[in-house]
Amino acid sequence: MNISKLLIAALFSAALPVFAQQPVLIKFSHVVAPDAPKGKAAEFFAQRVAALTRGAVKVEVYANSTLYKDKEEMEALQLGAVQMLAPSVAKLAPLGLKEFEVFDLPYIFDTTALLHKVTQGPIGASLLAKLEPKGIKGLAFWDNGLKSFSANRPLRTPADFRDLKLRIQSSKVLESQTRALGAFPQITAFSDVYQALQTGIVDGTENPHSNFYTQRMYEVQKHMTLTEHGYLGYVVITNKRFWDGLPSGIRNQLEQAMKDATVYANRIAQEENDNALAKIRQTGKTQVYTPTPAERAAFKKALLKTHQEMAPRIGREIIDAIYRETGFDPDKM
Ligand code: LMR
Repeated sequence: MNISKLLIAALFSAALPVFAQQPVLIKFSHVVAPDAPKGKAAEFFAQRVAALTRGAVKVEVYANSTLYKDKEEMEALQLGAVQMLAPSVAKLAPLGLKEFEVFDLPYIFDTTALLHKVTQGPIGASLLAKLEPKGIKGLAFWDNGLKSFSANRPLRTPADFRDLKLRIQSSKVLESQTRALGAFPQITAFSDVYQALQTGIVDGTENPHSNFYTQRMYEVQKHMTLTEHGYLGYVVITNKRFWDGLPSGIRNQLEQAMKDATVYANRIAQEENDNALAKIRQTGKTQVYTPTPAERAAFKKALLKTHQEMAPRIGREIIDAIYRETGFDPDKM
């Protein structure tokens, strides 16, 4: 063997172990702030993965739509450009999975415990299984919290919503909900909401307090009413081909990290939203109004229509299964 061949062989054998030690890379893209509940849970997951796999898997978290916006992120996952996302439940409907819009039905969950009976129980598992034929593996449900409405005018009764342009996520249920209040739904990517509110493209919006605070919506919304009329949560998903192609030992470690991150996410969500509400109040820029029981009842009554209107789209079966699981009675709404 001449000297140059030796050199190449030496270089090659030196390079191989380095190459073999390259960690598996998981790009985890999401649209909220790093300090929103989902942002914190994604970081927690990244740290658990690093610890459990001892560096064999590296999770890079991209917050605030820095990689992809709402619609593109789903395509990116299916094409394998990113490996993990945590879209809100509504954002799965465009894949043809309309059942996930059941979570958008107004007032369907009275307490977090009832919600968890669904997301962490057999109904949640059966919903996650529906993702597989789409090339997507559903890993977990993560909470954010209950949404409240905001605008630049006080919103005390359904009549106050008349003719407002309200930003919503892309969801037929949220469209129906908005129309039930006499307002106009305007679908806008989450990353564009602040600007849409600032420039008056939309007049108001709905979101949990954590999103409202971390996206600084208090700068551009004068009034918020604690309607807490609907749930916002996430499904953590991965590309199924990528997931199935992982060595089983690594997959088990990732599953464990996801279990830990789910416990963390669902533990911090309520507290994060409570803290965000306190900070919104402290800004003094958005007046926060708590509706009276009678005002809350009026909102419920106005929004019940959406349950009936959307049943054929979402599927009576899943709606009834959730009613049974949570004891929800539309006649008492
Ligand atoms: C929204 O678009 O309003 C939310 O779904 C954003 C998020 O992911 O919390």
